Amino acid sequence: MPRPPVKVIVLGSGEGTNFEALAAAAGIDYTIASVGSDQPEARILDRARRRGIPTFTCTRRDHPDRAAHDRALARLLASRHPDWIALAGYMRLLGPAVLAAWPGRIVNIHPALLPAFPGLNTHARALAAGVPEHGSTVHFVTAELDAGPPILQGRLKIRPTDTIQSLTHRVKALEHRIYPLALAWLARDRVKMVQGQCWLDGRPLNTPPSIEEQEPGCC
Ligand code: GRF
Repeated sequence: MPRPPVKVIVLGSGEGTNFEALAAAAGIDYTIASVGSDQPEARILDRARRRGIPTFTCTRRDHPDRAAHDRALARLLASRHPDWIALAGYMRLLGPAVLAAWPGRIVNIHPALLPAFPGLNTHARALAAGVPEHGSTVHFVTAELDAGPPILQGRLKIRPTDTIQSLTHRVKALEHRIYPLALAWLARDRVKMVQGQCWLDGRPLNTPPSIEEQEPGCC
């Protein structure tokens, strides 16, 4: 018997192109039940409304401190009963109330090949470091920023002509392929976080699987 799709809530603060990719692939493995943001004007909320997906906001300024904001977000999420929470450009650190309520059930996409370049400005830092490869990582969210176990990566080779803009574009194109795939694996219970490590199809992953950028003109 096919199982019903799992319910995902997406949280984002900005543009929402990853949300679009997730929404375009939704239906069989997962549905996007709701989209939340800390930024009432975020484009991701418009994109969700246009698709008829309910939205909510939880701004930091409406709460006296980070802990109160964290608890309010946990309540808003809990009232929507998600199976999974997917961060897609959500620019705030999640606090203990949210993390404790969905242990091993929150994922993020980060624009670098973790553990390289956690944090901000990843494309500029990759260019400055002169690394040959760059990309993006879907990973489990833990209390430490961008440090949870990786699930799937998208890789590309940095070209001598690359700029922050070109890398932003190329990395996002990869993200739009890997995030829906990773979410489908999660929804099918193919992937789990076990004692701080990612397991795929019943085996611990020492290095995450990855897909390569499709070179123009290739295949
Ligand atoms: C993505 O590059 C993602 O890796 C990072 O924030 C960006 C969000 O882009 N966490 P978008 O809002 O999905 O277009």
